[in-house]
Amino acid sequence: MKQEVLSEAAWQRIVEFAADKATPCLVLDLQTVRDKYRELIEAFPFAGVYYAVKANPDAAIIRCLQELGAHFDIASVFELRKLLELGIATDRMSYGNTIKKSADIAFAFEQGVSLFASDCESDIRKLAKFAPGSRVYIRVLTEGSETADWPLSRKFGCQADMAIELILLARELGLVPYGISFHVGSQQRDIGTWDAAIAKVRFIFDRLAEADIHLEMINMGGGMPANYANRHHDIAAYGAAIRRFLDEDFGNHELQVLIEPGRSLVAEAGVLVSEVIQVSRKSQDSLDRWVYLDVGLFGGMIEAIGEAIQYPMVCDRQEGELDEVVIAGPTCDSMDILYEDHRYSLPLDLQEGDRLYWLTTGAYTTSYSSIEFNGFPPLQSYVVDEG
Ligand SMILES: Cc1ncc(COP(=O)(O)O)c(C=O)c1O
Repeated sequence: MKQEVLSEAAWQRIVEFAADKATPCLVLDLQTVRDKYRELIEAFPFAGVYYAVKANPDAAIIRCLQELGAHFDIASVFELRKLLELGIATDRMSYGNTIKKSADIAFAFEQGVSLFASDCESDIRKLAKFAPGSRVYIRVLTEGSETADWPLSRKFGCQADMAIELILLARELGLVPYGISFHVGSQQRDIGTWDAAIAKVRFIFDRLAEADIHLEMINMGGGMPANYANRHHDIAAYGAAIRRFLDEDFGNHELQVLIEPGRSLVAEAGVLVSEVIQVSRKSQDSLDRWVYLDVGLFGGMIEAIGEAIQYPMVCDRQEGELDEVVIAGPTCDSMDILYEDHRYSLPLDLQEGDRLYWLTTGAYTTSYSSIEFNGFPPLQSYVVDEG
């Protein structure tokens, strides 16, 4: 079987490992995570890496990234607890969710977390009360929704003027105004979106310097790409362009730069192995062949919703004539259709039990899969490593 995402050795490891495993399952290759981490830090030698745990919270991935020196972006106290159980120090964590219960802020603070994202007055007041003296950074809104395959704007972040007011309030309430963050949208195909976002951050820094607040940090979030069916630049091109944008706006400035990669670090390490349950047509002369799999939107492939993310796919039945198909999941929900517009081609003699390997599925699959929808269990996940 031919694929163009993984190294041949990693692909062989995964296929051999999966051979006797029940499907659907995700197989993660740790060596690929190490390779992606190395590529990322080569492309971004000027940035501290905070892995966005939400992308894949598998303990083996977290341990592997910890050994490589990564820090961690956490979204909840549940992720915090998980990292604590794995022995990760709280000074390696940033609480990046702008939506937090008071009790959760207090718990994180008690545990030693002292770096928090925020984007509104009520959250700043909660932070001042339940995490006094902590460092805060304000998330700003950015452009880029149209060119991100999984946009993240609108719900999070505030306008530049409000960011300035919040930093002033944070100082007044005894917090440490630390920096500004943004996220240009996940799987962001337009590198230029970082240019505009960085310029906005520089504007905020300058305005605050007038009030004698000298911010130290820019957190550029995630958005770096993984290898899906759509074209994109490689990670080195992202690093080079973003460095140029930073130099243009902050060349003369002491600056701590953070990134919070999720997808770009772990997506390519995962292969979701699925099986065909059924192949049918709606009438004898229908052009459309429907292929129903044992995995669908609710079993881990939710990012295929609206066909936002199009995963590369390999079928284990290689020979024979191919034809385009509609691909759907196994649940009794009519929304559970994976691909109808984006046409994958599969052999005409495809039948029950044939395996489809979905590549680049290491991010946002297990963490999204439902726990019991239609009785199906959460997506089973395994880890393989070299040697
Ligand atoms: C605050 C924050 N940081 C980082 C990420 C990771 O983004 P990506 O997977 O595009 O690298 C996310 C994704 O939702 C996020 O919400």
